[in-house]
Amino acid sequence: MRKFRLTAEPGTRVLAASPTTIAAAARCLAAGGLAAFPTETVYGLGADARQGEAVARLYAAKGRPAFNPLIAHVADVAGARRLGVFSVDAERLAAKFWPGPLTLVLAKRADCPVSDLALAGLDSVAVRVPAHPVAQALLNEFGGPIVAPSANRSGHVSPTKAEHVLADLRGRIDLIIDGGPCTVGVESSIVACLDGPTLLRPGGLPRAELERVIGRLLLTPAALETPLAPGMLASHYAPKTRLRLNARSVHPGEALLAFGPTAPHADGPTLNLSPTGDLIEAAANLFSHLRALDISGARAIAVMPVPNEGLGEAINDRLARAAAPKV
Ligand code: TXA
Ligand code: MG
Repeated sequence: MRKFRLTAEPGTRVLAASPTTIAAAARCLAAGGLAAFPTETVYGLGADARQGEAVARLYAAKGRPAFNPLIAHVADVAGARRLGVFSVDAERLAAKFWPGPLTLVLAKRADCPVSDLALAGLDSVAVRVPAHPVAQALLNEFGGPIVAPSANRSGHVSPTKAEHVLADLRGRIDLIIDGGPCTVGVESSIVACLDGPTLLRPGGLPRAELERVIGRLLLTPAALETPLAPGMLASHYAPKTRLRLNARSVHPGEALLAFGPTAPHADGPTLNLSPTGDLIEAAANLFSHLRALDISGARAIAVMPVPNEGLGEAINDRLARAAAPKV
């Protein structure tokens, strides 16, 4: 079998999504290569979850400083059952929200085929069934679990368009399947179903919808002793330009990331997450607007307040991380 090597590939091919290019991506993954693909949340950088070497190349391509466990993507619940053990809560959440923007952290099965490197040695496994038709087609064609972190350089803003992936990973990965912009725009909600159900990362599904399905409140990791989501460190999802949160006015030299119909006056570059104040639209625009303002040359980005309800919780989580001091 041909091995794809980072250094041997002169460039990164960007291919429009089609049955032919999806089949090519599946072959690339089977040969140990790295292929980025769209999901409804953000673009993922895929590798065969069972090949430790491919997973090691994936960490290197992203420049993740420490090995941080990856989400294994599968086509359906049957695929997920081959990896992890479902609790009652996990059954309910999967039945209601898969395929969709939800990741479940499950107790790892003894015969789970995902490489230890991808799990960072944990005895749990994060599993997701994405809804995007290109991701679905790729998973079905490939026929096994695909680990896929967001397809950005470590610590950078997650990509919601193929061009974002290319900007971060050109020459470091084999190919990118371009399936257009991601509709959800923030990463999946991550719920650990180990002891008490715990929201490890607010994401594409509002907390209240998850809680309605399990019939109780989700715990928050702060309430627990164990560091459950190693990736949820302070500075993450960060643009290079400094962010000033909860801005009600714009200072000279600043760009403005606005929200809602009543934006303050700004002389510099301005983008509005949602002129109508729609949090779903705002989530879909968040990362591409951050990227665009980051390269606008402004000395800082003033960010208007975003209500903390529904998808606003995930938006505010990502904004807080983007504004945190770099580590
Ligand atoms: O929407 C998404 O979830 C995207 C798309 C591509 O599916 N993927 C994504 O992956 O956001 P990534 O690697 O950027 O974030 C995965 C997070 C990390 O914070 C990691 O620490 C956490 O999931 N994680 C993975 N396995 C875990 C585990 N067994 N226990 C706790 N946290 C885990
Ligand atoms: Mg990420």
